[in-house]
Amino acid sequence: MNTPSAREHTAVREVEPSMTGEAPTEHDRTPAEWWRTAVIYQIYPRSFADANGDGMGDLAGITGRLPALHDLGIDAIWLSPFYTSPQHDAGYDVADYCDVDPIFGTLADFDTLQHTAHELGIRVIVDLVPNHSSSAHPWFQAALAAPEGSAERAHYIFREGKGQHGEFPPNNWESVFGGNAWTRLTNPDGTPGQWYLHLFDTTQPDFDWDNPWVRAQFRGVLRFWLDRGADGFRVDVAHGMIKAAGLPDYTPPVEGGSMGGATVTEPGIIAEWAETAPYWAQGGVHEIYRDWRLVLDEYPGERILAAEAWVDPLSHVAEWVRPDEMHQAFNFAYLETPWGGPTLRRVIDDSLTAFSAVGAPSTWVLSNHDVVRHASRLALTAENLQGHGIGPKTAGLPDTVVGLQRARAATALMLALPGSSYLYQGEELGLPEVIDLPDASREDPTWFRTNGERYGRDGCRVPLPWESAAPSYGFGPTSASWLPQPAEWGTLARDAQEGVPGSTLELYKLALRLRREHALGLGAVDWLAGFGDPIVHFRNGGVVVVANTGTEPIELPAGELLLTSEPLAGRTLPGDTTAWLRA
Ligand code: GLC
Repeated sequence: MNTPSAREHTAVREVEPSMTGEAPTEHDRTPAEWWRTAVIYQIYPRSFADANGDGMGDLAGITGRLPALHDLGIDAIWLSPFYTSPQHDAGYDVADYCDVDPIFGTLADFDTLQHTAHELGIRVIVDLVPNHSSSAHPWFQAALAAPEGSAERAHYIFREGKGQHGEFPPNNWESVFGGNAWTRLTNPDGTPGQWYLHLFDTTQPDFDWDNPWVRAQFRGVLRFWLDRGADGFRVDVAHGMIKAAGLPDYTPPVEGGSMGGATVTEPGIIAEWAETAPYWAQGGVHEIYRDWRLVLDEYPGERILAAEAWVDPLSHVAEWVRPDEMHQAFNFAYLETPWGGPTLRRVIDDSLTAFSAVGAPSTWVLSNHDVVRHASRLALTAENLQGHGIGPKTAGLPDTVVGLQRARAATALMLALPGSSYLYQGEELGLPEVIDLPDASREDPTWFRTNGERYGRDGCRVPLPWESAAPSYGFGPTSASWLPQPAEWGTLARDAQEGVPGSTLELYKLALRLRREHALGLGAVDWLAGFGDPIVHFRNGGVVVVANTGTEPIELPAGELLLTSEPLAGRTLPGDTTAWLRA
């Protein structure tokens, strides 16, 4: 349940537009549900803050740093998994959905974190991983111990192999992380047994969601966290839980990306894959979310479901957020859009059209724990496979100066859009992808399953720098850090940016404050003319936004400057820069 202080906090924010002296618009008078406009900050617990100094982030570390997030001006946090887990996929391999892994702390630490967050007016969204469990989960261990055809095996997807002796996998599906999506068991007597399906790592067996027992267990998991007071769930692989009957063979049009989508260098590829793959976006998933929505609606305080569904086009994603399903779906089409005027205008229009058609807010996102950080990605060249991570041997590595400038401009554009935005920890410091991690320190299963062919996602998961002069840059009290931090973390540390005009941190704070004061989350995009193709130019309520995605400087229109993503000389807006003006 939300604490009274959380509700008070929301109420304060709702009246803030009138404090700017502007006439309230029709939107301001509509009491909006918090999630329609929220800025939600993703915390990756392994890498956010480490209270006990073992080099791995933990819940107590997060609690200690919540005031910094309050100062930043976000509305909610989404915590990536902190549950009991052997950590073969950094916690997305869950061995107990209702407990905290000792490396992160205890359930009492979670309660303290949540209570502190609520006191600060920050809502708490937890991650739900329903497509698969860890192979260490007691349910899977029971399935292994039980005979073929048993009720225990029916909780997962076990099949006989093909071939005379069952020596070939049941079908040709490949794991998103590379390699075969099936693993064969060895029976207690040493003979080879059945195969089980894992769309991700071998240690992540897929549940059989056609089985009512599985559905009942997850209703219980939802209630466990809702009863504890969680404000909602980010639902992992929300497009993958139902598989086509008969598990037919399928060859994807391109090899899979590390996040469960395809690579994005060829438009339309994801659409083709999402529409045809027998394991993505099957119609049956929606029945599950309608069922979950009924559970959430029993609870007070606007609890939410947010879908991680890598499907395309946006009109298809919108099916996940129909009025009786989830509340939000991640807008990966936006994340994947190259930096450029026409492409951005199109994806913004498509997003607003698609989501408003079902009465849902659009969401916006530029970075998360599965993709190359946008301070690097936006300077990559077209031949890069951005979904697979980048490393020392990647061709066309990004220019870090260009990348950061574009990232700041892109964020300033995103935070001016109506709807809800997601931020990924560290982007407010302008952190780039860490490219030169030693091979020996890499942990992403993608790296191992492709024998190093794909670098995977470790480069966006390096522990955060808080204090430039402290051991582990203030990540924890010791110098330990589960992934090595680069030397540049010193200048990018939070304390080196705090109060420094023009720093990326101060840019984020200003954008978030103005966004709230002008109620931009509740607004609308009114496109404005007057500039060429590379310029994204629109009005949202009391703010005019001009984003120059090109290389030629332009002269800004009249109007008081509220924010610029780079310092300006006069009223000339250089390339890769965004400005907000008072309308
Ligand atoms: C989602 C998560 C990713 C994880 C995968 C398997 O895409 O975001 O980190 O590896 O699911 O759970």
